[in-house]
Amino acid sequence: MRVLVIGGGGREHALAWKIRQSPQVEKVYCAPGNAGIAQVAEVVPIPADDVPGLLRFARERGVDLTVVGPELPLMLGVVDEFRDAGLRIFGPTREGARLEGSKAFAKELMRRWNIPTGYFSVFDNPEEAKRFVAEVGVPIVIKADGLAGGKGVIVCEELKEAEQAIDEILVARLFGDAGARVVIEEYLEGEEVSFILLTDGVSVLPFPSSQDHKRLLDDDQGPNTGGMGAYSPAPMLTAEMHARVMAEIVLPTIQALQVSKIDYRGVLYIGLMLTPAGPKVLEFNARFGDPECQPLMMRLESDLVQLLGACVDQRLGEVTAVWDERAAACVVLAAAGYPGAVEKGRIIHGLEEVERLSDVVVFHAGTARRQQQYVTNGGRVLGVTALGADVAEAAERAYAAVSKIHFDGMQYRRDIGRRAMKWLTKGGQ
Ligand code: AMP
Ligand code: GLY
Repeated sequence: MRVLVIGGGGREHALAWKIRQSPQVEKVYCAPGNAGIAQVAEVVPIPADDVPGLLRFARERGVDLTVVGPELPLMLGVVDEFRDAGLRIFGPTREGARLEGSKAFAKELMRRWNIPTGYFSVFDNPEEAKRFVAEVGVPIVIKADGLAGGKGVIVCEELKEAEQAIDEILVARLFGDAGARVVIEEYLEGEEVSFILLTDGVSVLPFPSSQDHKRLLDDDQGPNTGGMGAYSPAPMLTAEMHARVMAEIVLPTIQALQVSKIDYRGVLYIGLMLTPAGPKVLEFNARFGDPECQPLMMRLESDLVQLLGACVDQRLGEVTAVWDERAAACVVLAAAGYPGAVEKGRIIHGLEEVERLSDVVVFHAGTARRQQQYVTNGGRVLGVTALGADVAEAAERAYAAVSKIHFDGMQYRRDIGRRAMKWLTKGGQ
């Protein structure tokens, strides 16, 4: 079987690495991939948003299954196009991807179906938006409706900040058309957890819980990023909480998609806030989380291709997934300047030494190969991922590996997994 992975980050490296292990697979392609992915797949220089180019490639090479990593091709309708051409592809259609692509669409669906989430209102008029904020007060969260590369969410502690955010999004159009509307939303407090599942539109296969680290700096300080590290499982998602999420959030969402006649066969990634009043949805994503995908793939023992194929063929109810009981942790190594502009081309040292460690895999996010060396080629550069008996041991192993890696300007958080450890030592408080 020939499999094409679309994308070129740490998530796609983890997916390609796992797909490569499937006994059914003879060839893995990745477009556009990166220098690390080239170790496990043939990388092809087609950008992830070049839908016609990807379709042509898949046809020419007789690709049997295409797996979409990032959200952009989903929103551009890559799944619709491939299916129309009779090709098997894993991911929701353009309509389904609106769960991620329009925060207003997602919030309205939640409201209609009584899915627990913060209260909200949607505006295209800045004055009305400001009046609403003045009425409800701060703290409040202002979000650009559309995709803004992870930067369109502004948590505001002060009224002034909120007004400024509204002006930036609606008036200055800092995020372009993604900011034609704003969603103004209740500020929720609690533990944030990633709840990732596969669905074929009927059945649901929940993956183990995980937790991302969105802020750049230790102790959740500094700007929001794409994610500075992740671990799995997240102990805050207790069995009781899991059952509530399934009953109160997952099942109504699947029903809502069915009733709306949205053919959803892919990942549903629910960003959850575990509030004192119960689990509430912060956001939906239509793809695997990155970096969460990296620890999850380390823990998956089953054949990923079988699971994804069952999703595409709407046989998900017939399969089960087996997971390594150990925990996994991923520490992201980012370039200087991230999440802003970064310099590329810094030589990465120490990777060979880390390759010799067992239960550690370095997934490449932004790397290139130059003169027999790996160099930095993006904001997030590497995801150093390790297994361990528990989150503490997994993180310790990941950090032991990190200590052997170096490039100019390398920055990373020192506290990946600490919230889990704190939670456990406090006895689940
Ligand atoms: P999102 O892209 O919607 O996940 O937002 C990015 C980050 O902003 C989330 O991971 C949260 O940490 C934070 N955030 C988003 N919405 C809220 C909210 N309603 N209350 C508190 N924090 C939020
Ligand atoms: N790790 C957050 C995301 O993938 O959106």
